[in-house]
Amino acid sequence: MNDWSKAVIFDRVSKSFGPKQVLRDVSFQVVAGEALCVLGRSGTGKSVTLKLIISLLKPDQGRIWVEQDEITRLKPHELSRVRRKMGFLFQDAALFDSLTLYENLALPMLRLTEKSREETDFAVDKVLRQVGLAADKAKMPSELSGGMRKRAGLARALVLEPRILLADEPSSGLDRITASEIDELMLEQKATHKTTLIIVTHDVHGARRVGDRVAVFDGGNLIALGTAAEVAESENEVARRLVSEQ
Ligand SMILES: Nc1ncnc2c1ncn2[C@@H]1O[C@H](COP(=O)(O)OP(=O)(O)OP(=O)(O)O)[C@@H](O)[C@H]1O
Ligand SMILES: [Mg+2]
Repeated sequence: MNDWSKAVIFDRVSKSFGPKQVLRDVSFQVVAGEALCVLGRSGTGKSVTLKLIISLLKPDQGRIWVEQDEITRLKPHELSRVRRKMGFLFQDAALFDSLTLYENLALPMLRLTEKSREETDFAVDKVLRQVGLAADKAKMPSELSGGMRKRAGLARALVLEPRILLADEPSSGLDRITASEIDELMLEQKATHKTTLIIVTHDVHGARRVGDRVAVFDGGNLIALGTAAEVAESENEVARRLVSEQ
């Protein structure tokens, strides 16, 4: 299991909230440097899966590895070291409302790294340019549109140059052009830094373009995992329908 070529391993993971079982005995492996797109109907445990990877949630059963660390065994102070390898774009962007856009991005750098103010400014400016928000850095989150907040959340996830990028619906609610710009940016990140991408999305078109493989969740189970072409041939009808472009 201690496999350096894997970025994330789920080994028979189950998770319930009260009587509701969200994930049932789920196992999969994400290869280092690949892009995995996660599809599934609403409420099928996609966001929960990402939160398990960054240990915001703990599984009831099963084991999870992030690179060589079995995070389900780590103590809280050891977890922060592993979390630092990961950038997380939350489904709702989760910016701090009382901080400007600049401060939202600078905060993790100043808190989690030894970087100076100048280095931080440079890195923040660079990533804001990449997402097209360089002119907006003094704005408060409330002054940003929904799409701008998404891009800001992505910028914050990228600013620490994570080895693994977890993005929860990075392009939902965006127009086609902006959505494909976000896809391009993530692909560029993967090509330049060999970043592993795990992207939850409802955008089949984007998933086919960005994902080396797609995973489909349904009813608490991982019902398909493979290339889009393989999943399109899946025996499971839900999986087939979810990857087929309307
Ligand atoms: N912290 C929590 N406490 C209780 N129930 C939760 C919690 N987080 C998620 N759930 C439940 O787990 C199930 C899966 O939630 P999840 O957010 O993973 O869905 P999803 O696949 O991301 O859906 P969507 O596409 O709508 O974002 C839902 O029934 C949800 O209500
Ligand atoms: Mg979700």
